[in-house]
Amino acid sequence: MKKLIAIVFAIMPVFAFAAGGSNVHLDDMRVDLEDKASLQRGAQVFANYCMGCHSTKFARYNRVAKDLGIPEDLMSENLIFAETKIGNLMEIAMRPEDSKKWFGATPPDLTLVGRVRGADWLYTYLRSFYADASRPYGVNNTVFKDVGMPHVLEGLQGKQVKGTAPVVVGFDPLTGQELTEDQDGVLFLEEAGQLNQKEFDVAVADLTNFLVYMAEPMALERQNMGYWVLLFLVILFIPVYYLNREYWRDIH
Ligand code: HEC
Repeated sequence: MKKLIAIVFAIMPVFAFAAGGSNVHLDDMRVDLEDKASLQRGAQVFANYCMGCHSTKFARYNRVAKDLGIPEDLMSENLIFAETKIGNLMEIAMRPEDSKKWFGATPPDLTLVGRVRGADWLYTYLRSFYADASRPYGVNNTVFKDVGMPHVLEGLQGKQVKGTAPVVVGFDPLTGQELTEDQDGVLFLEEAGQLNQKEFDVAVADLTNFLVYMAEPMALERQNMGYWVLLFLVILFIPVYYLNREYWRDIH
């Protein structure tokens, strides 16, 4: 037993390092799998902007429709393209050999990426593309250096560049005004997109929410089941309480 504990402790730092591998700052994102509207919007962005290259081939369309409360006909009309049927797995037509040639890397299947990378990573990654003329598609990414993926959401976000820009470093205690400081290596918008920054952040949060759901669809069910279990315990408490009183009545 002691030996086992020693081994666990010996390995632990390795995991800690794997988890915090790079020093890139990640923005916090609050996942809310209860927010069906957010998950539906995320699914829509995913179908429109991501499924050209990425599959989620361990999931079926009709399961997603059911989980997210999307009627099957709406799902078929708006989120499924080509000849695909609603009972199919969410596969794509692009061949890995081709995509490897085009992007230098095959776009990975994203069914489990929500669990592998985590919400904060995804949320930050999708908002951190910036112009870099030295790259084949003219963009790079602060979270994923020399990424092969083009900035597919540029139309929505606008064009970001990396440079010196004012960053909020605190607040003036007397006036409550923001205090800023010029910092290097900061991303800022050079050209606006269709959405303003807040709207874009919400769109990416929805998309991330969807990817996290995708990685563990059972999480939704588990939460719902939890409520029923709690309700059952509350109801069970009533007869148990009276039964207990009944048992002890003559003794007291
Ligand atoms: C034009 C094709 C294309 C489209 C469209 C596209 N991607 Fe990608 N994506 C790629 C490629 C290629 C890579 C692999 C990059 C590499 O390894 O350098 C990638 C990598 C990724 C990764 C990193 C996976 C990992 O763990 O390494 C994520 C996450 C991702 N894409 C999410 C998305 C999302 C979300 C969308 C929709 C908004 C999207 N992609 C749209 C081509 C695409």
